[in-house]
Parts: sequence; C-alpha cells; structure tokens
Amino acid sequence: MTKILIAGASGYLGKYILEELNNWKIPAIALVRSPEKLKDLNLANIKIVQVEVTRPETLRGVFKDVETVISTVGFTRQNDGFTYMDIDYQANVNVLQEAERAGVRKFIYVSVLDGDILRHLKFTEAKERFVEALKASGLEYTIIRPNGFFPDLRDVLYMAEKGRVLLFGNGDSKLNPIHGADLAEVCIRAIAQKEKEIAVGGPDILTQNEIAEMALCAWNKPANIVELPGWIRSLILKTAKIFLPEQRFGPLEFFLTLMTRDRIATRYGTRRLQDFFNQEVQLIKQQSNQK
Ligand SMILES: NC(=O)c1ccc[n+]([C@@H]2O[C@H](COP(=O)([O-])OP(=O)(O)OC[C@H]3O[C@@H](n4cnc5c(N)ncnc54)[C@H](OP(=O)(O)O)[C@@H]3O)[C@@H](O)[C@H]2O)c1
Repeated sequence: MTKILIAGASGYLGKYILEELNNWKIPAIALVRSPEKLKDLNLANIKIVQVEVTRPETLRGVFKDVETVISTVGFTRQNDGFTYMDIDYQANVNVLQEAERAGVRKFIYVSVLDGDILRHLKFTEAKERFVEALKASGLEYTIIRPNGFFPDLRDVLYMAEKGRVLLFGNGDSKLNPIHGADLAEVCIRAIAQKEKEIAVGGPDILTQNEIAEMALCAWNKPANIVELPGWIRSLILKTAKIFLPEQRFGPLEFFLTLMTRDRIATRYGTRRLQDFFNQEVQLIKQQSNQK
C-alpha cells in the first residue's frame, strides 16, 4: 500500500500533519530523532521510525513503498550545534536523495512565505537553496510557503502581560498568520494537487496594531501600544549581527524585517489568533497556579 512519509514529524507543524493523517487513516511513516516527543499523541495508524536526518546512512531502506514525502525539517529553536545550512539545506537534501533512490513520486517541502524574495536573510537562505535542489531533482514537487505560525506571535503576548506592546513603525503593516492544524490540512491536500508553489496564511488579515490589541485583550489589559522609530530597529539589527550566534540572530533578523512590510497570502482555515492567545493565557495562568 502506498504511504506518506513525514520528515520533521516531531515539530510544531509535523505533529499536526501526523494527527490529520491518523484521523483520515492514511498509512504514514513519521521520521523522528526523539520518539518520546510523540508519546502524548494517539497515532494508532502511524509507524514511527527513529532516524537522524543529518546522517543519511540512517535513512536507508526507510522509504520503501513511500509515495509522497512531506518535509517540515527546519532549524528553528533547536540549540544543538547545527547551522541553517546543516538542517534547512543539507538534512533536507539527505531526505530528498533517499526519496529519489526509493522512487518516491512527490516531495512536499515547507519553506516560508516570500522566502524567494527574502533569500538574503539568514533564516531563508538555506531553505531557498534547498528549494533549488528540489526543483532540479526531477521529482514532482510542491513548495508550501506559509505565513507566520501563531506560536511565533507569543513574544507579543509576553510583552502584553506587562501591559504594554512595543512595535516598530506605525504598526500598520499587515499579515495573516496561520495555525498549525490549518496548515497541516494544506500540506495534506497538496499530495493530490498539481500546484508547484502554494503561498498560504490564516483566515484573518491583521495589522501589527490589531495583533498587539488582541494580545493585550487576552490579558484583559487596556490598549497600550508604543511605536518605536525605525532607527532603533536598524541599530538592534546591526548590534545583534555582531554579538548574537547565528541561531539567535536569524529569527530576530527575520522578525524585525517582516515587521515593516505587508505579508499577505491566500487565506485558509478556521482557527483564530484571538482564541489562540486566550488559550495560551489560560495555560500560563494554570502553570503559575501549580507552582
Ligand atoms: N514558525 C514560523 O512562523 C514559520 C513560518 C513559516 C515557515 N516556517 C518553517 O516551517 C518549518 C516547520 O516549522 P515548525 O515550527 O514545525 O518547526 P519545528 O517545530 O522546529 O520543527 C522542525 C523539525 O525539524 C527537526 N530538526 C531540526 N533540527 C534537527 C536536527 N539537527 N536533527 C534532526 N531533526 C531536526 C525537528 O526535530 P526535533 O523535534 O527533534 O528538534 C522538528 O521535527 C520550518 O522550516 C520553519 O522554519 C516557520
């Protein structure tokens, strides 16, 4: 029977993809380096295989009868000595080469919205290099280009807890962030779709000011948004480039660059940012009550 293989299955998006495949009873293989990360999920229909995507020899034989690969492998918050090139590029190349060897039909890769335009940034450079390798491979492919994920807006929520949110510029730039469960549906639909690139975001197009207001509202705090001048942003970027390691500079550079431009992709899904913020606040309050 044909199968779907998920690389990066233990990550934020990977777990939602597994749950969706499991719910539909679609036979699937989950590649993980730490199987314990999936122990809280009920994945009766998923075969979990322990590998190291950075070590191609561990992938041998695992792709037998696989029809489509979905890779969400990416260097995000990990602190394990690897670089963007090691993971976003080389680890994905390792997965791609094994897919080619095994005769996989299609490869779906999750990059980032506007990654091709912003490829000069640390966060996107290696991803886009992999996109080129995938396009050159001859395999059928789809590149998913999602807008920001809800959890990446937690920093706004943490600022809001203190009663004030700092923004660069006038806070008018817009984006439509997306929930992992909605994005998982897009990834799975892509298995049977012909589109080579899918740019996608969540259902609501929000300004930075609206996101800040939602975060303050989740804490039941009045609107208190402070707009910082653009030169402070440039100064932070220049200083951070000198002093921060790559894995901390990359997301900061990406975040500060995106704050000043509109990022809108095709709207998809039903999950709302205000609900996510409200749930996160409940969790934070419960955790502090248990201490
Ligand atoms: N966050 C956003 O706003 C956003 C927006 C657009 C696109 N994206 C991109 O979408 C992709 C998926 O995002 P996500 O939030 O699901 O990321 P995530 O939670 O960090 O998951 C990344 C996956 O890659 C694996 N990985 C990373 N380093 C590894 C290593 N050294 N060895 C083996 N496996 C490794 C992780 O395994 P472990 O669980 O073992 O670490 C995990 O399964 C990423 O490429 C991300 O950059 C993110």
